[in-house]
Amino acid sequence: MAHGFPMKEQIPAIQSEALAQIAAAADERTLEEVRVGVLGKKGTLTLAAAGMKDVPKEDKAEVGQLLNAARSAIATALETKQAALQELADLAALAGIDVTLPARPLATGALHPLTQIRDEAIAILRRMGFALADGPEIEDEFHCFDALNTPADHPARNEKDTFYFDSGKLLRTHTSSVQIRTMESAKPPVRIIAPGSAYRRDEIDATHLSVFNQLEGLYVGTDVSLPDLKGTLEYFFHELFGPETEVRFRPHFFPFTEPSFEIDVKLTVKGQAPRWIEVAGCGMVDPAVFESINQTRKDKAFDPETVTGFAFGMGLDRLAMIRWGIKDIRLLIENDVRFLKQFA
Ligand code: PHE
Repeated sequence: MAHGFPMKEQIPAIQSEALAQIAAAADERTLEEVRVGVLGKKGTLTLAAAGMKDVPKEDKAEVGQLLNAARSAIATALETKQAALQELADLAALAGIDVTLPARPLATGALHPLTQIRDEAIAILRRMGFALADGPEIEDEFHCFDALNTPADHPARNEKDTFYFDSGKLLRTHTSSVQIRTMESAKPPVRIIAPGSAYRRDEIDATHLSVFNQLEGLYVGTDVSLPDLKGTLEYFFHELFGPETEVRFRPHFFPFTEPSFEIDVKLTVKGQAPRWIEVAGCGMVDPAVFESINQTRKDKAFDPETVTGFAFGMGLDRLAMIRWGIKDIRLLIENDVRFLKQFA
């Protein structure tokens, strides 16, 4: 096809024909057909370029320039047209859609208040050097009671208070069982916290649930004293609730600590007289607990003559109630979105 026409005329003709076709193309498919027809393997310009070999030497430079100019003019026109067609397609897709309308709000999730307070408590205690520990919620009587120096006739072991399985196992009534499990496998110094669920057959009311959340702590070493216990927990509550928070230690009894205390924090709810609310039990680990551990371990790693320790167990639900002035503990498990939204 290159033959017969002088290429100097043929190339500009191909160019203007191609530009006209590009201008006329009304959609991307037609445009692609034009591109293949001109620049494809058997396209008009490609075939014309094949005729270069027959062009006399003295004309080669000029014809080459014509070819290049045609190629780039066509390529530019294709690109411009492609962009214009794309824009038209975009506009068509948006037809009838008002892009200035405000977007639909996305519903964002948030952590449950109990999760928030648990994570904060863990963060404070970890900064003080406590490591996380864990234990099963389905426990045996040994780890929940016997090893914790709790006699067989202790009221906490009563069927009325504790959920027993037919197998004799039970739903742990406190996280203190993790103290035992930890000391069975680790040597002093031991410094752990164990957050988790605890279960009691309590009558459900504004301050009691049958499933609640505790955070256990245990520190055993050669020189652990009652002032360490007080200092640690006072620091903890001041970090959690602010330095002005009033904390008091009331003498109490637990089978596994001696001396023992209950800790109250002053709760201030708007429109109510401030009142003390019990948030934790604590005390110095009873030597009888160490003895029991040594018997299981068959060594003297926790020799009560050389090691001392303190333990505490706090109610995370209570801490959440104090932090946010929540009057009814049941709100924490009802999953009422109107309530939960306030903590987002
Ligand atoms: N386990 C006790 C309770 O659930 C709390 C406690 C933990 C007391 C550790 C003393 C030491 O009430």
